Amino acid sequence: MAVEIVEGRTRLLVPEGWDSPVPPKEPAFYNPNSALARDLSVSIYRAATELAGAKRMADSLSSLGARGIRVAVEVDGIELVMLNDLNPRALELARRSAELNGVSDKVKLFNLECCEFLDSLGKPGSRPDIVDIDPFGSPAPYLDCGLRSVRNGGLLSVTATDTPVLCGNYPRLALARYYGLPLRCEYMHEVGLRLLYGAIARVATRLGLGIEPVYSQSVRHYMRAYSVVRKGRAEVGRTIDRIGYLMHCDSCGFRELGPEPLASCRLCGSKYRVAGPLWIGELFSAEYVKKALELSVEDYMRRARKLLSIAVEEVGKPATYFDLDNWARKARRSSPSPSRVVELLRGMGFLASRTSLNPKGIRTNATPRELIRAISSADES
Ligand SMILES: C[S@@+](CC[C@H](N)C(=O)[O-])C[C@H]1O[C@@H](n2cnc3c(N)ncnc32)[C@H](O)[C@@H]1O
Ligand SMILES: [Zn+2]
Repeated sequence: MAVEIVEGRTRLLVPEGWDSPVPPKEPAFYNPNSALARDLSVSIYRAATELAGAKRMADSLSSLGARGIRVAVEVDGIELVMLNDLNPRALELARRSAELNGVSDKVKLFNLECCEFLDSLGKPGSRPDIVDIDPFGSPAPYLDCGLRSVRNGGLLSVTATDTPVLCGNYPRLALARYYGLPLRCEYMHEVGLRLLYGAIARVATRLGLGIEPVYSQSVRHYMRAYSVVRKGRAEVGRTIDRIGYLMHCDSCGFRELGPEPLASCRLCGSKYRVAGPLWIGELFSAEYVKKALELSVEDYMRRARKLLSIAVEEVGKPATYFDLDNWARKARRSSPSPSRVVELLRGMGFLASRTSLNPKGIRTNATPRELIRAISSADES
């Protein structure tokens, strides 16, 4: 049995028990905790309609269409959403939801294996402008067909829920799935995202494509990577130049990124731990994030807007963040407000911003010692 709910401004038919602690998988998968991630998708895809003329979306692992039907209803400019899932009962719910919202003419259903579906769309001239890959667990098996099917200049969005792998619990598995070593540390979610982009980038360059990450999300067990995909040698070159290593010093907390792995910390000389190869370029595009903000004014976009506004600030800021709870504990101080620490660090002449990847995270080019000075003065002021 299905019940009707509203997500964003879309009516969705979802399984009974949809709000129980474990999301239902029968007759179709639906997770209400991912509503914010779908708000963000709507918002970023709106930006893609203006910035890349996006009109056609392929939701390649759609389940009952929570993302795809929302796109058909809530993203002006989208003319066609193709929903695909192996589960026919999910597609039946999607068909009825499309009808409920009056968007049946924009929604086409497919019951194919994900890559079979994407490959069938992959002829030049008929490729979708937006391709979404939202699997159970790792997206690694779908990166080739996802990248091959998206139109030149279009957007590929990818979910990963194998967070323990990306965050360092199973390094060998990360190497196998994402071609790079992870790192357990205070900013392991950013390392995870960088590994995910690293894998997307390396599959892309093999196919003669380049990627530009435009928006990145990490919430609890859930990561999403949005990349513009472009064809050509220059794009491949730009992409390969952004693959490198991340070095972290456990003794003093310093970290740095570079094209080659380095052995020891340039601040204290201790041995570095090294992650990668992974993506060392930007995780956000100011143009995309600003446009997404401008086009997401509804009340229900409040939480998405908050993350997008922080993301605007973090463009061009140093890679990796410091977790203030962690550093305040080390400094034996109470954990200060991130905005206050950002203000103090800027006053001291450093680059600083909050990060949308962690509510207590700070990006800065200050050294750990200088960060502790800022935390101490926040505690005293
Ligand atoms: C995490 S759910 C998708 C959730 C959905 N995108 C949303 O926003 O609610 C993954 C879906 O992939 C489908 N699936 C798993 N393997 C597949 C495959 N190889 N090809 C097509 N569909 C597949 C499952 O039936 C399931 O509905
Ligand atoms: Zn050090």
